[in-house]
Amino acid sequence: MGLLLLLIICQCAINGIKTHSVSKPSIILLMADDLGIGDLGCYGNRTLRTPNIDRLAEEGVTLTQHIAASPLCTPSRAAFLTGRYPIRSGMAAFSRVGVFLFSASSGGLSSEEITFSKLLKQKGYATALIGKWHLGMNCESSNDFCHHPLSHGFDYFYGLPVTNFRDCKPGQGSVFLKGVQKDLVIPIQIAGIALVSLAIVQYIGLLKVPFQALGYFLLIITISLVVLIFFFYHFRHLNCFLMRDHQIIQQPLSYENLTQRLTKEAMQFIGRNTDTPFLLVLSYLHVHTALYASENFKGKSKHGLYGDAVEEMDWSVGQILDVLEKHNLSDKTLVYFTSDQGAHVEEISSTGEVHGGYNGIYKGGKSTNWEGGIRVPGLLRWPGVVQAGASIDEPTSNMDIFPTIVKLADAQLPSDRIIDGHDLLPLLQGKVTRSEHEFLFHYCNGYLNAVRWHPGNSESVWKVFFFTPNFSPEDSNGCYDSHVCFCHGGFITRHDPPLVFDLSRDPEEKVPLTPETESRFHEVLRAVHQAVDNHTRSLHAVPNQLSWDNLLWKPWLQLCCSSLFQSCYCDYESGGSSLQVHLG
Ligand SMILES: *[C@@H]1O[C@H](CO)[C@@H](O)[C@H](O)[C@H]1NC(C)=O
Ligand SMILES: *[C@@H]1O[C@H](CO)[C@@H](O)[C@H](O)[C@H]1NC(C)=O
Ligand SMILES: *[C@@H]1O[C@H](CO)[C@@H](O)[C@H](O)[C@H]1NC(C)=O
Ligand SMILES: *[C@@H]1O[C@H](CO)[C@@H](O)[C@H](O)[C@H]1NC(C)=O
Repeated sequence: MGLLLLLIICQCAINGIKTHSVSKPSIILLMADDLGIGDLGCYGNRTLRTPNIDRLAEEGVTLTQHIAASPLCTPSRAAFLTGRYPIRSGMAAFSRVGVFLFSASSGGLSSEEITFSKLLKQKGYATALIGKWHLGMNCESSNDFCHHPLSHGFDYFYGLPVTNFRDCKPGQGSVFLKGVQKDLVIPIQIAGIALVSLAIVQYIGLLKVPFQALGYFLLIITISLVVLIFFFYHFRHLNCFLMRDHQIIQQPLSYENLTQRLTKEAMQFIGRNTDTPFLLVLSYLHVHTALYASENFKGKSKHGLYGDAVEEMDWSVGQILDVLEKHNLSDKTLVYFTSDQGAHVEEISSTGEVHGGYNGIYKGGKSTNWEGGIRVPGLLRWPGVVQAGASIDEPTSNMDIFPTIVKLADAQLPSDRIIDGHDLLPLLQGKVTRSEHEFLFHYCNGYLNAVRWHPGNSESVWKVFFFTPNFSPEDSNGCYDSHVCFCHGGFITRHDPPLVFDLSRDPEEKVPLTPETESRFHEVLRAVHQAVDNHTRSLHAVPNQLSWDNLLWKPWLQLCCSSLFQSCYCDYESGGSSLQVHLG
């Protein structure tokens, strides 16, 4: 009896310590760009060396079914920061273009949205975003910064406001022109024919257009063309630059030691905040193309420049873990590593080198909702609190980070809106074995593409596709002809009845089930349709941040650190004369 009492007291004391230590840890969220789940040693890669990321797996939890809320950067990151499906924040497009392409677009993460950074900042956390943002910049003028990281709860920003593009690195070709050419050739031809016809009609006097009106019309057309040509010619300067807070520090950005610079900024931020809880989001430019690696890594991996970039990123993760150790912060810090979506299998360099990563056994990649597009690495380490070396196969989402860290920071979850993520901590601590995600909705831009159902009483993970992308060429594993797969119209095949897979038996999504091969076929469809009805009812109309109007380049929103006629050039990073201008 006495022993039992003692045991109970001990148990309470232990629980007491646990509850205490489980409050207000510092939080480091590491996000790679376009990294495939098959690129990491801890997920089975034997030739790419990622010892530091693997260390997170050894000392923490490996999620094997960690699902990005979208297979594209902008929507996936919006969901990550808000814990909500991108469709809820208007960050899901209904056209082909699902991400922001320009720094001077008016769309972005709305100020109505509540990010985890906002909530943690209110709880006294020091907050920084280092690296890529890709969630918008300005709304109405070039200095309102309505979508900027500093307007979304970050105290400090160092990095790239838009995204890494091939177009940002001379000699790497242009993704942008490739896309635009297809879309613009016909309108430009029509405009040209219209102009010539108008001129002929005017000349032979068939139609008397007032001379002045024609003049204005021609003037407008000419100015538009000049502006367009200027824009294409200066793409790199206008869209690829680095900022520190609201200030441009390098325009266009230089890839020289870029990962070192990001890493150093992150380490310095940690060093400045050893006495306060902090939130650091380190959002790597690796391994999105244009690929790059510093001298120490170039040519060192077994997988070309792509492998070099992965190994350089792994080095950077090691530096961050080391600096935590140095400041004795490892036990007080939750570290998370993920990728915003699966590897971009379509990426091939102009010389034919593979520049996209590896999604392991999974089909497809970035821009598709096949598992290869959305099943991403998910590693969480917090020594002494989450299990070390455990592997969890339950469905989890990158939206789960939001409620997990908001709770850890003792902040309140917003009660005026739906949060789609669930607190991961009970799962990570082994206190529960089932994920709270019975259903996950897989959107391709704004279109509901597929639904995942993990019924509460079964090991099955059903995945039901309402449509699938048309791969091109047809027998490939991606949309190589168009660079990414699109989500509507002639780019997809609709399925009625929908395609049904059981991922627990067929993770490669090879053989769709039929009523003949699967007795629960109709039951699965019924459950999924009900869930879709309920989910659809929970959506509210919000402004579309990725409408054409919000995507277009608006010259008056352009950020430029010198005059436009000096081509928006400055470099406060590498010293030299611009530095003096800056200091002067
Ligand atoms: C490791 O990753 C590389 C680069 O993405 C890939 O080419 C290779 O197939 C992967 N190897 C294994 C064994 O998974
Ligand atoms: C990049 O780093 C290397 C090695 O640390 C150094 O030698 C070089 O000067 C750096 N380059 C720039 C532009 O800072
Ligand atoms: C590091 O922190 C632990 C507890 O978290 C403490 O016991 C230890 O003394 C600290 N070491 C140093 C060098 O500050
Ligand atoms: C219906 O959807 C809401 C909002 O996503 C969710 O909270 C609720 O659990 C769903 N109910 C059912 C029965 O699926």
